[in-house]
Amino acid sequence: MPSSVPPGLPHVLRSLVYLSAPFLAVYVFSYFVKIPTWAFLVLQTVCLPIYLVACVKIKDFRGRRAAAHLGAIPPPSHDGESLGNIDILVKFQRIYKQGFLGDGVSEAHAELGGTFNLSILWDTTTVTNDVNVIKTVLATDFNNYVKGNFFQAFMYSVLGTGVFNADGMGCGCDFHCGARSITHNSQTPQARCGNAALHKMKERLVEGHAIDFQKAMQDLVSRFTLDSASEFLFGKCVNVLESPLPYPPQTPEASRQEEVLTLADKFARAFSRAQDTIAHRGRLGYIWPWLEIFNDKTGEDMEIVDSFLNPILEDALEKQRAEKKAGLWQDAKSDEVNDQDTFLDHLVRTTTDSQVIHDEILNILIAGRDTTAGTLTFAVYFLCMYPRVLERLRKEVLETVGYSRRPDYDDIKSMKYLRAFLNEVLRLYPAVPFNVRYAVNDTTVPNPDPTGRPFFVAAGQPKDYWGPDAPLSG
Ligand code: HEM
Repeated sequence: MPSSVPPGLPHVLRSLVYLSAPFLAVYVFSYFVKIPTWAFLVLQTVCLPIYLVACVKIKDFRGRRAAAHLGAIPPPSHDGESLGNIDILVKFQRIYKQGFLGDGVSEAHAELGGTFNLSILWDTTTVTNDVNVIKTVLATDFNNYVKGNFFQAFMYSVLGTGVFNADGMGCGCDFHCGARSITHNSQTPQARCGNAALHKMKERLVEGHAIDFQKAMQDLVSRFTLDSASEFLFGKCVNVLESPLPYPPQTPEASRQEEVLTLADKFARAFSRAQDTIAHRGRLGYIWPWLEIFNDKTGEDMEIVDSFLNPILEDALEKQRAEKKAGLWQDAKSDEVNDQDTFLDHLVRTTTDSQVIHDEILNILIAGRDTTAGTLTFAVYFLCMYPRVLERLRKEVLETVGYSRRPDYDDIKSMKYLRAFLNEVLRLYPAVPFNVRYAVNDTTVPNPDPTGRPFFVAAGQPKDYWGPDAPLSG
């Protein structure tokens, strides 16, 4: 994908230039002022820690001065017990593997309130779940916040220059308007793939097996969203729903079932792993480049992703070349969407840059597929947990849509209970539970205490949001 240079290398080289400054200063000093060799060696040994402590202190002083200038105070600080809060970093890594994403953060919110500062290895992030702060960042002070170089750097090997890695409201890049308008075309593929998924479940139930929620249901929903997304994005269903569902464990069929992976299955798995890797980079903060000096941890997976995706993209570009040759081709403006176009058709009408097309397609797949798969999985989970809700929802669907028709947009809009149900699922298990923005200039965000001074946010300091209503624990 974007580069053959390991993604950590440029960052580490930049850091090495920065870290070599004190050694260079000692060398220059000893050149002009004659000092004994032992003093030179001692200075060379201590200069780096002194330099780093000085940088932290200067940054701290600068922050306090800027806060005072803006009439603000720093938010409360979440402190661990070890140097640089390494214990918190380790705890968060453990939680990510064993618990719910927001577990460690929710404990800190319970102790410190809606907004607090978290410094990992002296790199400070303001974490908030305060709706007024989120409103400030996403609306009233929107122009002062960007996704930032750090975020874009660790995402780049997977997202490239696609919509999720671009600043602005998506429409900063012309394609995204098209992406929004074109999503209405997704209804037919979803209906077709939905039927295929229901058929798969019925088949298994007729065989006399339950659908194991964790293994089979999540698997089925992920395959349904990949099939419907691929059909609506490329106009070509990848048919991952065709592979058999996993049998419940402990059944004789499960022990006999061989896992045969199609190219589309391999694509889906590699794509998930690559997303996991970039999420892990984000959690490691500025340490991640040091772990990827020699290799790109998303490299192998992105090769699999590309071996699946590139032939589809190449086909579309080939079709474009052939139509141009035959004089049948029509360029499109980014906001003009032909009703019959898939998202890929629309992209090839607006650009011939295959990298841009590749990145945009992958970004929309991430935007639309995992969010939908996660939400549908939790929706089914809650329907199993709360039969009363299932009964009421079923009644609304049957009253609105009946027994034989497929729901259309107007039906979906008019089903109030369905909307309330989905909102509640998203409140409890948000598909996008965290988001990050960096402040361009020093600024302030509201303090929940109306008598207190506003909280200070330094330029370049990331802000993490976490949904205020997300679950506090399992
Ligand atoms: C439960 C379902 C979904 C949830 C919770 C969700 C949530 C979000 C959130 C929070 C963002 C903002 C990200 C940021 O600015 O950092 C976003 C952006 C985006 N989403 Fe979704 N999304 C969902 C489904 C979809 C679907 C189905 C599609 C398309 C097929 C889609 C396309 C996009 C695009 C293109 C963007 C980025 C462009 C922009 O900033 O306007 N999303 N989504």
